[in-house]
Amino acid sequence: MGFITGALFQMSTTHASNGSVVDREVAIHSYLENRRRTARLFGLLDSRSYYDKPIPLRHPFVFYEGHIPAFGVNCFLKKGLGHPGIDRDLETLFARGIDPIDQRATGMSQVESWPERASVAQYVKEADSAILSALRNAVLESNDNAVCYRGQGVFTMLEHEVMHQETLLYILHRLRNDRKQRPPGTESLLDGFVPDREMALIPAGMATLGSEIDEVPFGWDNEFPGFVEDVPAFEIDLHNVTNQDYLAFVDAGGYTNRDMWTDRGWERREAVQRDHPLFWEWKSGSWMWRGMFDLIPLPMSWPVYVTHDEAAAYVKWKKRRLPTEAEFHRAAYGDPSGIERRHPWGNVETDESHGNFDFRHWDPVPVGSYPAGVSAWGVQDLVGNGWEWTSTVFQGFPGFKTMASYPEYSADFFDQDHFVVKGASPGTGSCLVRRSFRNWFRPHYPYMYATFRCARDAK
Ligand code: AVJ
Ligand code: FE
Repeated sequence: MGFITGALFQMSTTHASNGSVVDREVAIHSYLENRRRTARLFGLLDSRSYYDKPIPLRHPFVFYEGHIPAFGVNCFLKKGLGHPGIDRDLETLFARGIDPIDQRATGMSQVESWPERASVAQYVKEADSAILSALRNAVLESNDNAVCYRGQGVFTMLEHEVMHQETLLYILHRLRNDRKQRPPGTESLLDGFVPDREMALIPAGMATLGSEIDEVPFGWDNEFPGFVEDVPAFEIDLHNVTNQDYLAFVDAGGYTNRDMWTDRGWERREAVQRDHPLFWEWKSGSWMWRGMFDLIPLPMSWPVYVTHDEAAAYVKWKKRRLPTEAEFHRAAYGDPSGIERRHPWGNVETDESHGNFDFRHWDPVPVGSYPAGVSAWGVQDLVGNGWEWTSTVFQGFPGFKTMASYPEYSADFFDQDHFVVKGASPGTGSCLVRRSFRNWFRPHYPYMYATFRCARDAK
């Protein structure tokens, strides 16, 4: 996906040398790189599809074009710097739009008429220039406003855009192929070798989830404070469950075997009559994979992308279980010496050899394609090639406090109906690749680039 890969901005390099957290030049550069990548993503869209909603419960593309800069205006300029804003109506219209159960339940009303693309473009232009002028001239970091403390408003804005690049990508994934502008370099969809299924035995030890505020330049509210968990010995798959593995479950009647599913999982499956993963399509007698631009024969060596409900059914059928969030941490960041690593691959800077993230590919690659990213226990692809479902219900760590720049970020989802996913997908920007980063989704959300691996108690 070379055309879309921008300069990497990593939060570790955003540390300024003068004792402050935000480096103004890096922040400006990151903002511009983000805008460029977002523009390229919008460039994939046929203009006829600007008001389309390939995922019915999410807003149409027009919303995201306005939402990204409006979020910067709302959370950084207005809340942080006392800026009056640019257009109050648009800043309300474009304020929020995430993961609703359904429109009625969240009170998210259907917007009857979205603005013309030209008005959105005009707003985006003004918002960008106000934000850039603040990044160039304003006091970005101070102690007298919680939004400016450690430059929170700046990072909130920057990382929010990166998250929405992934959202855009998986919404674009669902758009009809004849409504996408295919960029060069999109032909390399390669199946590969399916490794034998093996497990690593991870001895009992401790896992540090989250982080202390001053250990990272920035983290979202749900990453704090750090939380140490003792993890009993367990076993975990070296590789993600592949399409080949999952096909055995499908062929064994997994989707009609009521006993494999939780009560709610079965209800949710029935409600949409799902009988195979969303990314699969049955065509003239064989299974196909619906990629970003192509429908190709199901690549057996790729990690399967499924919902939590589907992953839970598979592990039950296999007489295994999903790992907990703490077990994921042990497998990814633990080390036989007892010292925890920053990344599965150690404490070195993240680069393109470490995993399939940061828009390196439009689709997954065969499991085990990134040996340089392996963890201390030989577990592969923990970061990249698909988020990984855990059995942990999303909630705050003890001592959780909402963040000033965006208090709704996590707390709105502490409803017992979201599960933690860890790692990264092909569409996750490298600034989000950090140990403490947590993502979460509803158990039946099928659009995400999310896979899983099996675990079990040590014998
Ligand atoms: C953290 C990825 C679950 O996309 O729903 C974007 C991120 N929050 N805008 C989402 C988010 C506000 C959120 N996730
Ligand atoms: Fe958002």
